[in-house]
Amino acid sequence: IVEYARQRHIEVIPEIDIPGHTKALLAAYPELGCKGGPYTVSHNWGVHHDVLCVGNERVYAVLQDIIDELNQVFPSAYFNIGGDEAPSTRWQQCKRCQDKAKEQGIDTKHLQQYFTKRMEQYINGKGKTMIGWDEILEGGLAPNATVMSWRGIGGAIEAAKSNHDAIMTPVSYCYFDYYQTDKTDKEPLAIGGYVPVERVYSFNPYPDALNKEQQKHILGVQANVWTEYIKTFKHVQYMVLPRFAALAEVQWEDPAKPKDYNQFLQRLMRLLPIYQLEGY
Ligand code: ACM
Ligand code: ZN
Repeated sequence: IVEYARQRHIEVIPEIDIPGHTKALLAAYPELGCKGGPYTVSHNWGVHHDVLCVGNERVYAVLQDIIDELNQVFPSAYFNIGGDEAPSTRWQQCKRCQDKAKEQGIDTKHLQQYFTKRMEQYINGKGKTMIGWDEILEGGLAPNATVMSWRGIGGAIEAAKSNHDAIMTPVSYCYFDYYQTDKTDKEPLAIGGYVPVERVYSFNPYPDALNKEQQKHILGVQANVWTEYIKTFKHVQYMVLPRFAALAEVQWEDPAKPKDYNQFLQRLMRLLPIYQLEGY
């Protein structure tokens, strides 16, 4: 996959999600959780209180091994550690986590900041830049991190203002698992939301809240297609097309140039035969 993509000038960036979204890891290695398990692999998506015990040194050793193994597969200059949706519930009840927080002179709630900084140090030591979802801003950003702004554009603004790079992927414009029409009874069941192609096309990734220099930190846009409600690749295609075309123009167009949705629709009509030719 990495090579196939490289030949098409696409760099595949790996993402593992830590310290939250780790129920499968905990089920296999219960000693890595605050309570020691037993844990089960989650049968449902969502946010779970059981996350990695950030007070346990063994966790760092295991994660460093995982990063080393993935680095052999992915030559990308970036490594994404996720970092979203990690509640501190268990850390606040865990002796090891409390001790770690005391040692670091921080609130137990902010242990994710300590954890993320340590992960970044390791990733930077391998010559790579760390990416994380905007939750990694909370309690202070790791020194060289690139932020993926998903809960809105605020994370990207905060990151850019403190001289960090950011990727714009707010739910309200860039979540292609959301419905694309408001006739939801005529659509395949989706996770929710409403992001029609016109809305995608209207996105401005360079907010006025940033000056010209700060705007240079916005690396670009990203669409997300989570597949909880999507069983087949055909359905993936249905969800991303033609919204990809709209987001591609958002990315490629000079942001100073006025946008005209009706003109975009004319260009889009010329794309449809290409989609058909490719069997999309
Ligand atoms: C996310 O959608 N939880 C990044
Ligand atoms: Zn713990």
